[in-house]
Amino acid sequence: MKAVLSYSGGLDTSVCVKLLKEKYNCDVITVTVDVGLEDDLKEVEEKARGLGVLNHHTIDAREEFVKEYVFRAIKANASYEGYPLSTALARPIIAMKVVEIAKKEGANAISHGATGKGNDQFRFEAVFRSKAPEMKIIAPIRELNLTRKDSIEYARKNNIPIPVDIDRPYSIDDNLWGRSIEGGDLEDPDFTPPEEIFLWTKTKKTSPEVISLDFEKGVPIAIDGDRSGPVDLVMKMNEIAGSHGVGRIDMIEDRILGIKARENYECPAAMAILMAHKHLEHLVLTRNELRFKEAVDSRWSELIYRGLWTEPLREDLDAFIDRTQKRVTGHVRLRLHNMSCNVIGRGSRHALYSKDAASFDDKTIDQRDAEGMLRYHSIQAGMYEKTINRD
Ligand code: ARG
Repeated sequence: MKAVLSYSGGLDTSVCVKLLKEKYNCDVITVTVDVGLEDDLKEVEEKARGLGVLNHHTIDAREEFVKEYVFRAIKANASYEGYPLSTALARPIIAMKVVEIAKKEGANAISHGATGKGNDQFRFEAVFRSKAPEMKIIAPIRELNLTRKDSIEYARKNNIPIPVDIDRPYSIDDNLWGRSIEGGDLEDPDFTPPEEIFLWTKTKKTSPEVISLDFEKGVPIAIDGDRSGPVDLVMKMNEIAGSHGVGRIDMIEDRILGIKARENYECPAAMAILMAHKHLEHLVLTRNELRFKEAVDSRWSELIYRGLWTEPLREDLDAFIDRTQKRVTGHVRLRLHNMSCNVIGRGSRHALYSKDAASFDDKTIDQRDAEGMLRYHSIQAGMYEKTINRD
């Protein structure tokens, strides 16, 4: 059998290469999809080749990831229980690329290193099953019921290089939209995350910084008037917001299976951009649009969390979201300081705001006009009051 494996270079996927060969009798082809990974991808390739793969592919999907996935997430104010979906958003594109390679390589099996407890298995397999139903799916870690300890042991026995910091056994996943750190001591929900787990959110800077973020049709295009491409903009934002310690999230998350998990994230760009975007929407969308869109956004986020990127409802919701975003053009000013990010100003030529209407110092609106509306505003509550006082 010829299997294509989604390969990150980490412990689990490295163990998978060997398992696929020895336990599943497969020839293995590895694919590493770059969605903004921290690692040196040349080293990842060398590691794969060192494990005896038939072939290895590295695919730079950063631009597509930001444009097609991250930007949609921004327009949808994407958040699941407060988590901006960084890992969840990247899985479908990774799976999609792996399927493409599997087809090109004439493989008959497709594989991932996700466990049977987490969410990533759902996300990979949803795409595998809809885009390559003819292929066998192999999930060695889940199928062999391996713990992290088992994996380490297997790696030791099989001369698979083990990361140097294995005594701090965190499971880390990163891409341009965020970094997640789980496992080890962090599995105790009351354990304080040690400073060393954080790489992107350092709190060196002490003086506050104000930046202006420009949006066009719902997506960020420039920081302080400096236009940059999607990937650069997100990277720059990670840099700026991260340097103020913005974007740390420590939460209990309800996984797809129903397991509650303790999660730590660093998502500086995501948290700052999402905050700015939402504030801009509040300036330009009507109250009705905002209320309805909240429900759409939450449905969208739930689909992505559950790995259902390929579900048609996602595209239906995107159509609605895109329609609303036509007017989400303008700027938002953010103040970053000491791990916090605040909006301190916003502006747009599509603003539905009238200073005259809102001002205490203006007579454009005759206050007496409100009287008629007031008379009927609570009419049903008044009637209800009468019925309960009747007997
Ligand atoms: N809980 C997050 C999610 O489901 C993060 C998953 C991280 N994955 C990993 N392989 N370390 O999206």
